[in-house]
Amino acid sequence: MQTQAKVVNALTDRSDCLIVTAFGNSQWSPAAASLEAKAGQVATLCKREGFKGKAGETLLFTTPEGTQAKRVLILGLGSAEPTPSSFQNAWSKALDALKNTPVKSLTLDLDGVNVADRDAGWIGRQIAFQLGLGQYRFTRCKSRKPDASPFAPTKLTLGVGKPDVSAARTGLTEGTALANGTNLTRELGDLPGNICTPSYLASEARKLAKGQQKLSAKILDEKQMKELGMGSLLSVSAGSDQPAKLIVMEYKGAAKNKAPVALVGKGITFDTGGISLKPGAGMDEMKYDMCGAASVFGCMRTLLELQPKINVVAVVAASENMPNGNATKPGDIVTSMSGQTIEILNTDAEGRLVLCDALTYVERFKPRAVVDVATLTGACVIALGSHATGLYSNRDELADALLSAGEECGDRAWRMPLWDEYQKQLDSNFADMANIGGREAGSVTAACFLSRFTNKYPWAHLDIAGTAWRSGAAKGATGRPVPLLMHYLLKQSA
Ligand code: BES
Ligand code: MN
Ligand code: ZN
Repeated sequence: MQTQAKVVNALTDRSDCLIVTAFGNSQWSPAAASLEAKAGQVATLCKREGFKGKAGETLLFTTPEGTQAKRVLILGLGSAEPTPSSFQNAWSKALDALKNTPVKSLTLDLDGVNVADRDAGWIGRQIAFQLGLGQYRFTRCKSRKPDASPFAPTKLTLGVGKPDVSAARTGLTEGTALANGTNLTRELGDLPGNICTPSYLASEARKLAKGQQKLSAKILDEKQMKELGMGSLLSVSAGSDQPAKLIVMEYKGAAKNKAPVALVGKGITFDTGGISLKPGAGMDEMKYDMCGAASVFGCMRTLLELQPKINVVAVVAASENMPNGNATKPGDIVTSMSGQTIEILNTDAEGRLVLCDALTYVERFKPRAVVDVATLTGACVIALGSHATGLYSNRDELADALLSAGEECGDRAWRMPLWDEYQKQLDSNFADMANIGGREAGSVTAACFLSRFTNKYPWAHLDIAGTAWRSGAAKGATGRPVPLLMHYLLKQSA
């Protein structure tokens, strides 16, 4: 999709569809007012159809007068200064109204619209992002194409006031790249466990890096991980016929000596629970247990498209969690790369076992911050549901930066405690720690476990168990928290 931002004249626009806005209470945007002044059609039709300009209301005219555009869509915003969420909602209603139309070139005239507490860059980003997300369909495993294809215009023009043109243009570029990254995350998440194995993720990393100047990919196999002493990670893949992979991608957009931000993703390509086997109902959803890894891939994809001046290291700990004859048993004790020993009391608490070794591994990059992303605990879903990602951090500054990044793009996180009082739930009689902390505060004790491997750098942990995918009829990966992470990374770039 080609995008542009400029000052638009509603009377001479030649697109397949021109969108102008109404603010409710008989208030029109400048563009809608100019069409009305020219041909007198807008007010008459709105009156006839009972269109009031409430937030999210739409009215499509197929034979507009006073403009060169083939169609006009009037979009209600409820106010000239809508809230960010009301604006997002209205834009998605406009896109719904254009489904099943042959519109290929689309102009959205937003001159005179100010989203509360947001700038033109945000508006451009949001417009392109939502449009881009709407293009995603999981069709890889369908032998017949679905009947309804997504609304996919080839050209989008955003009309803004002259001083906002350049910010809006940047926003459109960022929003498009963000949607492409997020859609990659959704695709990887939606792929079934028999296709998306640790080796598949490794090949995906090589594919991303192929021919790229700024991105490299390196894959460590089980032998190399053994030499590094990653006994904890390897205890998870022990019960699977699929070998584990440690996937390392380096994006170098800034000077060599600039310390990188490290992203670490949980890549359990299927979580049966291992010997601590999960119940059967709904177990298919454990193909999503690699969504942390998928979000790291999505970020790398977006970085490649935008080429910002920042260094980012991505480490994905990829494994299956299966119960074959070599599988780890409850009570087994393993030694992590950090030297700390772990008594594995429940083989279903495997995410922390693969992450802890990846978190020790990233020390070698001397990162200025490390953010791990994981569908780590069912307890986080109980605590926060599907609206907020659980955020834990050993530095207030990093926590605040991530919280505000999420707030800004509507991909929100909520900070949870990492108090010392919780740590003793991990005491073990036989090793340095147990891998589970009992029934209480399960998401917190999982984060406490990880915190024992992150003393050497500023660190944050995102528990995305509730936010990474939707269950039910609209089952599928959401692509979260790629928007949050990308907002954070772009703010960090020079
Ligand atoms: N992948 C799961 C966490 C999960 C569960 C995510 C449900 C999304 C929905 C993780 O590996 C797991 O099984 N965690 C256990 C931990 C427990 C054994 C301490 C859990 O949450 O039940
Ligand atoms: Mn598990
Ligand atoms: Zn898991």
